[in-house]
Amino acid sequence: MWTTANACAVECPKPKVLESRDVILKITGSTVCGSDLHLLHGTVVELQKGDILGHEFCGIVDDMGKDVKGLNKGDRVVASFQIACGDCYFCKQKLSSQCEKTNSNTIENAMYGGRTAGMFGYSHFTGGFAGGQAEYTRVPYGDVNLLKIPDDVPDEKALYLSDVLATSWNCVVDTKVYDGDIVAVWGAGPIGQMAADFAFMNGARRVIVIDCNWRLDYIKEKYPKVETIDFTQLKGVKGGVVGKLKEMCDGRGPDVALECVAGEYPKGWLHAAEMALGLETDTSEIINEMIESVRNFGRVGVTGVYVGTSLKYTPISLCVGADLLLTRSTRPGYTNHFNIGSLMERGIRLIGNGQAPVHLYWDDLLKKIQTGEIEPLKMVTHRVRVEDLDEVYYKFEKKEDHMQKVYVETRFSAPACAGSPALTRYTDRPLNT
Ligand SMILES: NC(=O)c1ccc[n+]([C@@H]2O[C@H](COP(=O)([O-])OP(=O)(O)OC[C@H]3O[C@@H](n4cnc5c(N)ncnc54)[C@H](O)[C@@H]3O)[C@@H](O)[C@H]2O)c1
Ligand SMILES: [Zn+2]
Ligand SMILES: [Zn+2]
Repeated sequence: MWTTANACAVECPKPKVLESRDVILKITGSTVCGSDLHLLHGTVVELQKGDILGHEFCGIVDDMGKDVKGLNKGDRVVASFQIACGDCYFCKQKLSSQCEKTNSNTIENAMYGGRTAGMFGYSHFTGGFAGGQAEYTRVPYGDVNLLKIPDDVPDEKALYLSDVLATSWNCVVDTKVYDGDIVAVWGAGPIGQMAADFAFMNGARRVIVIDCNWRLDYIKEKYPKVETIDFTQLKGVKGGVVGKLKEMCDGRGPDVALECVAGEYPKGWLHAAEMALGLETDTSEIINEMIESVRNFGRVGVTGVYVGTSLKYTPISLCVGADLLLTRSTRPGYTNHFNIGSLMERGIRLIGNGQAPVHLYWDDLLKKIQTGEIEPLKMVTHRVRVEDLDEVYYKFEKKEDHMQKVYVETRFSAPACAGSPALTRYTDRPLNT
């Protein structure tokens, strides 16, 4: 079967049922996520040669173990990006992203003092499970980690229940947006866009999105109520993004700030230099902008990934010596110049939203797709083939062709649904039939 291993198209054997609650899924749709870029950049460590990526996918039940309940061969289903057991302390509360049983890797325990659930296609850091950017994949605890897709919802809409929709929803409701709030969102990628949409749905009076490229125009077109700030166009604005937000929000600032970017993208030379020297793993620039711009007692939620480790800078950090005896895997991450004073004195609530617990939200979000309240296709710009995925990764990374959210089809996909972009090929490789 075709798949994308380490962002290279390769052929590999079809997976088999290994455990009695496994489901083998014939993949009909997957996508590339901003989180996959952290693998491409080496920020999320422990990716090994041959690993199959992809943590958002839907498909058709092809085979299953004898103990899978509630599913039949031929069912259309979508998978959560996390693998949950359904039974442990966290799973019983539907906090599936923190399942205690499915991630056998202990690096997170050493780095973070606890670990997340196992995840599909997200390196050995999260258990080393094969992902869904492929033609088939194995879903452990299939009866827990797969949601049936009703007939009135096409794959192109259901797919994003895997991650984006649940993550953006969690970002908003976990940070808490109340009626009448002004919400600022950093990052106009798919997560930021959906968070903006969901902030309105949860009562926000105004939503302001901050980014630096064409995505701001895209967001203005699709979500006309959203206001935008291009942070590269603030020369002459005292205080930059913080100053601009104060100016736009009665001098006081927004009530809520949502981080939908990541810690690996330094903005100024100081953080770029510190990161290059291995003196810092994640920049504090966005977090500081958020803390400083919200009103006193405002809320700041962090959904963009801050991993606290950096593989690519390790040789240099070994040279500067500070962490000489610690391996990169067990060294806790750090961020410099964090504005602790503003946080404490002004009573800012800083909330790590965590890897989103998809199972807590996906039933309700599916209903909202059915009623049309949520329209996932709004963020989808391209339809591509699994055979071309290695090229797509680099297009996606560079935001070329105005690529934002893709739907990856395989030979098993149904024809594109109404409203779906037409297929774009990025290689002349023959299609698998
Ligand atoms: N917590 C979770 O469960 C979860 C799940 C999925 C994704 N994520 C994370 O959410 C983040 C966003 O995901 P995405 O798919 O939308 O990513 P993306 O890479 O498509 O979008 C990120 C956007 O941030 C913008 N950006 C870069 N620097 C910025 C800055 N200083 N200020 C404002 N904007 C800036 C980029 O131009 C880009 O448009 C990623 O870090 C991703 O890993 C978290
Ligand atoms: Zn993702
Ligand atoms: Zn569990």
